[in-house]
Amino acid sequence: MVMNVLLNVCLSLGILLHHYCGCWASSIRYNKFQLVPGHRVTRGTEVSRSTQPDVNLVKCARRCLGDCTVFQFDNVNKLCVTFAEKPYEIEMTGDTNWTAAYLPTSFLNAITYGDYTLVFRLQSGKPGLAYATWTDTNRHDDEKPSSETFPLACLRMSNYSSCDRHFRSKIIDNWSGITEVYLSVIKNDSEVAYIKFNGAGTNHYTWCHEHRIRNSTWYPDIVYGPPLRYWTHIVG
Ligand SMILES: *[C@@H]1O[C@H](CO)[C@@H](O)[C@H](O)[C@H]1NC(C)=O
Ligand SMILES: *[C@@H]1O[C@H](CO)[C@@H](O)[C@H](O)[C@H]1NC(C)=O
Ligand SMILES: *[C@@H]1O[C@H](CO)[C@@H](O)[C@H](O)[C@H]1NC(C)=O
Ligand SMILES: *[C@@H]1O[C@H](CO)[C@@H](O)[C@H](O)[C@H]1NC(C)=O
Ligand SMILES: *[C@@H]1O[C@H](CO)[C@@H](O)[C@H](O)[C@H]1NC(C)=O
Repeated sequence: MVMNVLLNVCLSLGILLHHYCGCWASSIRYNKFQLVPGHRVTRGTEVSRSTQPDVNLVKCARRCLGDCTVFQFDNVNKLCVTFAEKPYEIEMTGDTNWTAAYLPTSFLNAITYGDYTLVFRLQSGKPGLAYATWTDTNRHDDEKPSSETFPLACLRMSNYSSCDRHFRSKIIDNWSGITEVYLSVIKNDSEVAYIKFNGAGTNHYTWCHEHRIRNSTWYPDIVYGPPLRYWTHIVG
C-alpha cells in the first residue's frame, strides 16, 4: 500500500552500497566481448588510443584488459580506443566506420558506480512489488543466468524510462563489508531525494533506520521527513 504510493511518485529508485573495496576479478578474454558493428561510443572517457598500422579488432580487444570493459575499433582508419566507463554507463550511436564492443555484464563481478555498488533498482509501473522483489532470494540479476540477458538500460543511471524491470543484486543475500547505503529517488531522470545510511554492522533489513541516517535531502530535519516514514514501513 505504502509502496504503491511511493511507486506512483517516483519514476524509479536505486539503492547503492558503499564498500571498502570494489575489486575486480580480471580474467577477461577478447573473445568474450559483445561486438556492435556499425556503432561507436558517444560521451565516453578515453583511456587509450592507438593507430598502429597492424592493429585489428582482435588486437584492440587485447588492449582492453583489467578494468577495461568497453572499446571500439575504427575499421577504416585502424584506430583502437578503450574507455573508462562500464558497458551500462555508455551510450552508442550508429557509425558505419566503427565497431563498438563491450564485456557482457555476466562477466562483471558487480554493477559499480565509483565507490558504490548497485544492489536494487525499482522501476515504477513495472511488474513485481518492491517488497516482494527485495525479499526474493531466488533473484540475482547480477549473476548467471539472469545477468546474461539482463538489459543494460536497467543498470543505467540515466534514461530511466527505457528500462522495463526491477534489478535485484546477489549482494542483498550476502550483506557484508558495507559501510554506507545510498537510497536515491529519481523522477524525470533526475535525483529528487536521497538518504544516506551508515551501513556498518547492518543486515539487509536493519540498515534502513532513522538512527543510521548520515544525510538526506531533508537535512537537517532528516529524521522526521515523510518519505523516511514510508521506508521504515517498507523495509522494517
Ligand atoms: C569514415 O571513414 C572515411 C575514411 O577516412 C571518412 O571519409 C568518412 O568521413 C568516415 N565516416 C564518418 C561517418 O566519419
Ligand atoms: C533512451 O532510450 C531509448 C530506448 O532505448 C533510446 O531510443 C534513446 O535513444 C535513449 N536516449 C538517450 C538520450 O540515450
Ligand atoms: C559474500 O561477500 C563477501 C564480501 O563481499 C565475499 O568475499 C564473498 O565471496 C561473498 N560470498 C558469496 C557466496 O557470494
Ligand atoms: C523533465 O526534465 C527535462 C530536462 O531537465 C525538462 O525539460 C522537462 O520539462 C521535465 N519534465 C517534467 C514533466 O518535469
Ligand atoms: C548533507 O546534505 C546537504 C544537502 O544535500 C549538504 O549541503 C551537506 O553538505 C551534506 N553534508 C554531508 C556531511 O554530506
